[in-house]
Amino acid sequence: MHKVVSIEENLSISEFKMFQKLIYNDIGISLADHKRTLVQSRLRKWIREFELANYQELYEKIANDNSGQMLMMLVNAITTNVTSFFREESQWIYLQNNLTEIFDIKNKRIRIWSAACSSGQEPYSIIIFLKEHLKNFDEWDIKILATDISEEILLKATSGIYVKKELEGMPKNILIKYFNGYKDESFMVKDEIKQYVVFRTFNLVTGDFSIFKNNFNIVFCRNVMIYFDRQTQNQLFEQFAKLLEKKSRLFIGHSESIHQKNYTYKLVAPSIYKLN
Ligand SMILES: C[S@@+](CC[C@H](N)C(=O)[O-])C[C@H]1O[C@@H](n2cnc3c(N)ncnc32)[C@H](O)[C@@H]1O
Repeated sequence: MHKVVSIEENLSISEFKMFQKLIYNDIGISLADHKRTLVQSRLRKWIREFELANYQELYEKIANDNSGQMLMMLVNAITTNVTSFFREESQWIYLQNNLTEIFDIKNKRIRIWSAACSSGQEPYSIIIFLKEHLKNFDEWDIKILATDISEEILLKATSGIYVKKELEGMPKNILIKYFNGYKDESFMVKDEIKQYVVFRTFNLVTGDFSIFKNNFNIVFCRNVMIYFDRQTQNQLFEQFAKLLEKKSRLFIGHSESIHQKNYTYKLVAPSIYKLN
């Protein structure tokens, strides 16, 4: 017989701190104190679902889960996957105006990393953009690496299937050109776009950056640094710097910034940096 679990207690400050520490140490996400009620509402649900007695038992279940699945559930619960095609229009306009400066016309080789790509709209936008704006697109050797910490969101990204609402604002000619109709008023990115994108899991805080053998022409790292503290952000910027070269660019989210005292980068347009 199932145990009937009723847990209505609030997550105490000390219990919250315990989860805060676990999340920071194992995922790198710095949870602000005001997130206590959000965390509480998510965790309470799990305590019922897993038929546990209290937050301490849940903590132990997560901390002792060697598969990492529980930790992943936690990441999905406390971060947002919100994204959209061609997000942050000014950055695409910048890219269009600076294509020939950023990319090597002679070698015709492009490597771009969409770090924290969520459900895939960002990397697919990049390829669609290049198809639309790069002269002689078919002559170029192009690869987009798209990574995220969440395996679950990467499954959606890999499927390339989006409902109508997720495609709002997409010009009709682009939709027709690069998507096939799928069932129930949804659409699937065509293989001719998908083939350029490789999806992988990667934790930007705890991941091993030495696995990247090539320099990237652009790193998109947008709307994820909000979860990291300044120190973690600075470490991440230094890791990116090792993977960029003189002409490369780093694109970040509009609500994010690189610390003013950072001498590695210089701002070249809103939320766009290059190496100093
Ligand atoms: C708001 S989405 C940003 C998507 C896209 N870059 C954009 O700007 O539209 C944030 C993503 O960051 C991912 N994320 C959170 N912490 C991460 C970490 N430590 N390493 C890698 N990805 C992380 C989440 O899973 C989520 O998909």
